[in-house]
Amino acid sequence: MPKTYTICVLAGDGIGPEVTGSACEVLASLAEDGGPSFVFKHGVAGCDAFEKNGDAFPAATLELAKSADAVLVGAFDVARLPEEAVQPLHALRHEFDVHASVRPSRSFPGIPTRADIDVVVVREVTEGIYSGIEYRAGPDAACAVRVITRGASARTAEIAFQQASQRRRKVTAVHKLGALKLTDGLFLEACRDVARRYPDVTFETRNIDACALEMIRHPEDFDVILATNTFGDILSDVGAGLAGGLGLAPSSCIGARWAYFEPVHGTAPDIAGLGIANPLATILSTAMMLRYLGEPKSADAVEKAVEIVLEKGPRTGDLGGKAKTVDITKAVIGALVPA
Ligand code: NAI
Ligand code: MG
Repeated sequence: MPKTYTICVLAGDGIGPEVTGSACEVLASLAEDGGPSFVFKHGVAGCDAFEKNGDAFPAATLELAKSADAVLVGAFDVARLPEEAVQPLHALRHEFDVHASVRPSRSFPGIPTRADIDVVVVREVTEGIYSGIEYRAGPDAACAVRVITRGASARTAEIAFQQASQRRRKVTAVHKLGALKLTDGLFLEACRDVARRYPDVTFETRNIDACALEMIRHPEDFDVILATNTFGDILSDVGAGLAGGLGLAPSSCIGARWAYFEPVHGTAPDIAGLGIANPLATILSTAMMLRYLGEPKSADAVEKAVEIVLEKGPRTGDLGGKAKTVDITKAVIGALVPA
């Protein structure tokens, strides 16, 4: 008997509603092939919400998110949010007690890449330079505090090693130890402690700058990249760029009780409202969600359908095509083979 799941959708700003709308249609269509069915509950969050109600992440939204089986996030226009506003993703990560974002990048059929890429960046998402602790030190200087804790580093490392155990058994931790002796020193110490419990996974460390260069030159050398917040933010975009762009980059943030899934990209203000956003990153994020929910066959079916569409078209503008978001939605649903 197929199951029914409740999904909290935080569509957010910009292209968020367009791409999550598309992904929800794909999820809803799974039931026609005997797959699971879904109840979608939409929560208010983001910059538009702040401008309307003075709250970017209302308490009712958090309640909705916690009561759902999983959360699907579009994107939030963080750059437009005033300093005093709650940052929805920060709040969600804190409330969900999640520390790591898992961001796979892989080559797809029909999308030319310089070399075969199949990399997962596991990025700490609650601290580092994005800890939110910033202050003005007089009229002409400003500081940001880089917070690194053993706990968050170890939990992120644990997820990286779990991922690597199911893949090609290699973890590369990135750092800039020469410049950040104490913070990256502690981060690497925590990573090494976890590495000892995974003797069959190769563990190596690389400087962030050298790692970015090598990812571009030899992506095949990497399996799982383990990174603090900012370095992981940058390297996951490098991975996305190598594999075909932000329009194809999904992510998950899975904790002990709650999980959310979102595309790596932002609100794309330059194309918002035009109906031309690529929904595939969000659709691939729902495949990660399906796996988390215990629906691996449906997850495989969605990924396969995306591959078929990438091979045969249609394509959106970011991939050199002229198709609209709705065309991609229809094509993916049409390419779904019963699980
Ligand atoms: P962005 O990812 O929104 O856009 C970068 C470029 O990629 C743009 O040219 C955009 O048109 C294109 N692009 C992104 N997603 C696309 C898609 N699905 N289909 C086709 N083209 C796509 O990054 P940007 O411009 O730096 O940030 C815009 C806003 O989004 C900012 O307020 C930023 O803070 C926020 N942001 C939010 C994130 C989140 O909520 N998780 C993540 C990244 C950025
Ligand atoms: Mg980013």
